[in-house]
Amino acid sequence: MRPVKEALQHPIFNTVSEAAEALGVEVYVVGGYVRDHLLERPCTDVDFVCVGDGLELAEKVAELLPGKHKVSVFKNFGTAHIHEGDWDYEFVGARKESYSRNSRKPDVEPGTLEDDQLRRDFTINALGISLNADNYGELVDPFGGIADLDKQIIRTPTDPDITFSDDPLRMMRAIRFASQLGFSIHDKTWDSIKRQNERIDIISKERIRDELNKIILSPKPSLGLDLLFKSGLLVRFFPEMVELHGVEVRKGVSHKDNFYHTLKVLDNVAELSDDLWLRWSAILHDIAKPRTKAFNDKDGWTFHAHEFVGSKMVKRIFRKLKLPLNEHMKYVEKLVLLHLRPIALTKEVVTDSAVRRLIFDAGDDIDDLLLLSRCDITSKNERKVKHFLRNLDNVERKIDDVEERDRVRNFQPPVSGEEIMQIFGLKPSREIGVIKNALKEAILEGEIPNNREEALKFAVRKGKEMGLKEARTI
Ligand code: CTP
Repeated sequence: MRPVKEALQHPIFNTVSEAAEALGVEVYVVGGYVRDHLLERPCTDVDFVCVGDGLELAEKVAELLPGKHKVSVFKNFGTAHIHEGDWDYEFVGARKESYSRNSRKPDVEPGTLEDDQLRRDFTINALGISLNADNYGELVDPFGGIADLDKQIIRTPTDPDITFSDDPLRMMRAIRFASQLGFSIHDKTWDSIKRQNERIDIISKERIRDELNKIILSPKPSLGLDLLFKSGLLVRFFPEMVELHGVEVRKGVSHKDNFYHTLKVLDNVAELSDDLWLRWSAILHDIAKPRTKAFNDKDGWTFHAHEFVGSKMVKRIFRKLKLPLNEHMKYVEKLVLLHLRPIALTKEVVTDSAVRRLIFDAGDDIDDLLLLSRCDITSKNERKVKHFLRNLDNVERKIDDVEERDRVRNFQPPVSGEEIMQIFGLKPSREIGVIKNALKEAILEGEIPNNREEALKFAVRKGKEMGLKEARTI
């Protein structure tokens, strides 16, 4: 663990100390900044707690800081905020009430530093460093936060039932910190989460989403998602994912547990990419398996069309979880829809046209799609895995080859609809669409090369076949 004193190297700490002294109040650095410093994680958000009026202290700090600084006051939370370069400072008076961002109560009862620390979420977030002249730089740790950092434990400073009923989002925060830091959750804290899980229902979907995304972005997201599942929280806001869980056996034939398969795929992706939406694609790639599951004597378990059904489920899930309904959602829909295609290509003789179609359909996301495909191979049989990965290597080589020759990624038709209209003297009509589509198909099938000259010839030929007359010869 990094020495505490090193936490106070930035000039702000002296400035705040001076300001507090001038006002005759005690002040401490608390919360995430102290935790992250000790864990050697970067942090530029600092929370200051003073035993007195936090807003007055913020005004004084702004006065002492070089240059002009605006103090933003959040009356409802009793906090004041100053922004300086990359740094953010928050000032609050020590309170007896819960330290919840969600508190709708504007009045909070003033308290001592220890009252304030007691009503924070976890011991590791309730550490304070004094900025007062008599013990500047000293750690204030009444609830064993340092010991818990050492033992890598998430634990509430007081009875967890109180901590979580003050702000039920903290149940997700417990799991989020466990997942981000690789910590475990203390037994009593964990039991309380399991007991109170339905109270998450009163929390806004936006706050749940933010924690969920932080879990998904953690180094090994399966840790957090499995805890969400086992705590009974996940089913309350994302039941579709919970439905993936379980193994059914019929006539001695079982299928894999799609929940744990999904977590494995997600971890595989997380090792290779920090992209939230690629990680969401991993979470949702098999989401429709429970709905498409069927059994027959010949094939055993099947999940026909789960990629289509799954991609259709994305929007509803995004809407429910308040995820953005924009190009990120479209990207996830596309990856879910196409996730079987690269592997399918390894099973047949790979024709150029099949490869061209895949490049055409995936566009710029082809590399992400290939990465997802690789990560989707989770068999325990090493030989099988090697075999699939080798086949995927071949598909990748083939894709590079075809792409270099035909450049169908982000396909732009070499002849426009406008030009086809001119050639045949037509207004916008169904025929133009038919010719354009036939042209695209001919290029993808490899009947004609992807160049303008051949495309023009093809368009004319096709139009004539359809009984159209040239108005302008090319
Ligand atoms: N806090 C709390 N209960 C909450 C939210 C916050 O007790 N529901 C307290 C914790 O002491 C926390 C501090 O407020 O350390 C700051 O909260 P926040 O900025 O949300 O979290 P951090 O701990 O800084 O972590 P991160 O920046 O990763 O969200």
